[in-house]
Amino acid sequence: MKETAEWCWMDGSWVRWPEASVHISTHALHYGSSVFEGIRAYEQPEGTAVFRLGCHMKRLMNSCRLARMVPESVSAEEIEQACLELIERNRHGSCYLRPLIHRGAGGLGLDPTGLPIQVSILSFEWGAYLGADALDQGVDVMISSWRRAAPDAMVAMAKIGGQYVVNSLVSVEAKQNGYHEGILLNHAGYVSEGAGENVFAVYDGVLVTPPVSASILSGITRHTVMTLARDLGITVREERLTRDRLCIADELFMTGTAAEVTPIRSVDRSPIGMGNVGPLTRRLQVEFFDLVHGRLADRHNWLRPVPQFEASVV
Ligand SMILES: Cc1ncc(COP(=O)(O)O)c(C=O)c1O
Repeated sequence: MKETAEWCWMDGSWVRWPEASVHISTHALHYGSSVFEGIRAYEQPEGTAVFRLGCHMKRLMNSCRLARMVPESVSAEEIEQACLELIERNRHGSCYLRPLIHRGAGGLGLDPTGLPIQVSILSFEWGAYLGADALDQGVDVMISSWRRAAPDAMVAMAKIGGQYVVNSLVSVEAKQNGYHEGILLNHAGYVSEGAGENVFAVYDGVLVTPPVSASILSGITRHTVMTLARDLGITVREERLTRDRLCIADELFMTGTAAEVTPIRSVDRSPIGMGNVGPLTRRLQVEFFDLVHGRLADRHNWLRPVPQFEASVV
């Protein structure tokens, strides 16, 4: 799987992938002063469509506000249009989009006020985030030794680059210990989320997921799955989850733009349910993939078809 493409978009210009670079004095490289989004587009019978683009743009702009770095030169609408055009330029079918807003070069003081706010987007074709078998067979996770910080010690609602250092350490720790992914407990000891995924458990047919107050990112796939579950008549509850309760769930799975709907088959080597993919998990997974690939009607208006851009013929 090549994580590259022909074109990127930088501050309103189309730039070839190898030239899409920044100077080493870029503030974001030193202090993580960036915000980003992860968006997927899916190939459908009629062409490619972007999943929940408007929601991702809203969260991106909220992240900018929370990080005190709202770009003045580029609007959310322009970023949205550039996302759509990038897919066409790169001739993608299904792909992943990464809009990134960062503080540029011009000073290394911690206060970035006055430094340029730069906007770029890259895209590439990305398969199953946690490995080729993850969606089908499920993954093995560990409870990380890292904690999700308290709400007054981080900006949980925002996808701010610097905050992902810990998430990255969670993934590294998991891989080094032979797991696919790590799950973080929060400052109060309750289950928060995976390194880049929200967590769901099933008990007696009821779907349970930690509330936003558990220092989670308010995931767009989380919202999608909760909505699809309710559409199917499944009861969904946002409840605090303890580590022990997690381990005795009938079923577990994770959601995320990258991870999509990934079943969890064990926690800390202890099998979940029968140690394979549970029936409710599979049902929601099938519903999700049928929807994003256009095999089900888009009843919530979540898919935005990529239009034809005449100017993008290169
Ligand atoms: C920390 C974290 N939690 C959860 C998620 C899942 O969110 P979404 O479904 O919006 O991709 C992500 C990915 O964006 C994430 O980075």
